[in-house]
Amino acid sequence: MHTVSFGSDNHSGAHPIILKALQDINAGYWHGYGEEEYTETVQAKIAALFGPDARCLLLMTGTGANVLALQSLLKSYEAVFCAETAHINMHEAGAVQKFTQGRLIAIPTPDGKLSPKLIAPHISLMTDQHMSQPRIISISQSTEYGTLYTLDEIKALSAFAKDNNLLLHIDGARLANAAVALNCSFAEMTADCGVDIVSLGATKNGCLFGEALIFINHPDAAKDAVYYRKQLTQLVSKMRYLTIQMETYIDKGIWKENALNANRMAKLLAEKLSEIREVTITQPVYVNAVFAILPAHIIPALQAKYHFYLWNEHRNEVRLMCSWNTSEGMIDSLVDDIRSLLT
Ligand SMILES: Cc1ncc(COP(=O)(O)O)c(C=O)c1O
Repeated sequence: MHTVSFGSDNHSGAHPIILKALQDINAGYWHGYGEEEYTETVQAKIAALFGPDARCLLLMTGTGANVLALQSLLKSYEAVFCAETAHINMHEAGAVQKFTQGRLIAIPTPDGKLSPKLIAPHISLMTDQHMSQPRIISISQSTEYGTLYTLDEIKALSAFAKDNNLLLHIDGARLANAAVALNCSFAEMTADCGVDIVSLGATKNGCLFGEALIFINHPDAAKDAVYYRKQLTQLVSKMRYLTIQMETYIDKGIWKENALNANRMAKLLAEKLSEIREVTITQPVYVNAVFAILPAHIIPALQAKYHFYLWNEHRNEVRLMCSWNTSEGMIDSLVDDIRSLLT
């Protein structure tokens, strides 16, 4: 246990309002597996945030949401384009390949972001019956590198997808952080930009656990997904505890309040770090992640006190994540410790 961690936004506990809601729903007896009107209603409410035709399914984990998204829309001879740094490529232990049997085409990027220009050369190679066929573009918003697609960039990817008969998936484990950074609604960033399917995370932003998968315009795939969710072991029997978290997260504005704090703290941290000559910030800070190169000799001592990850050990680049309950005091203490290790 660490009193302070910049390791990940899922190192934080759950927001007290979420915990209180869990306690309140603990009384009484409920049908399992979401077979109560309650879960249907909450799923419909979340879907409505993404447009009138959207459908939503609740799940336990972000990996599960990504796998279910891709499995619902991919055939085994088809391929998914993603950034090399994408969570589906680096940190899901091949789950997408296992469950879809499709191919992941991981494209190197300087900043974690895909573009039509980066994808096009791959499509032109996938011409005949010997090759997996292009089907889905999967992007993360915000990205694993703390960067952000503008609405115009998402629209450009969606237009490119349509021209090439592809679908567009967003891994939105940090969609809330992206929405507050862009000052837009979930629908403006997804449905209005032509996105097909979205994994919406809540675990990293103040829930105990909880994710949602939103089919913006594929009702048949949404129907199939109910069964795939069961096969993936993502159907929760005591569903009320998942449903209440997602409802509270949305209705009480927890998603916004928490993401605003996490993003604000990352900005503050980046500002303070940029005043230290020996530290180099490597990516613009739009959301709740700060990537920075630190002098190698201070990293072990700093890690003894604060948990954080070395992102690229060859260049001493670290990832410092802020979360819903990162405070200014924590930032000050980290920056003071960096300064004193450098003297
Ligand atoms: C971008 C992104 N997508 C998906 C996930 C998966 O979430 P989980 O760990 O709940 O499976 C993560 C978790 O770190 C993530 O960072």
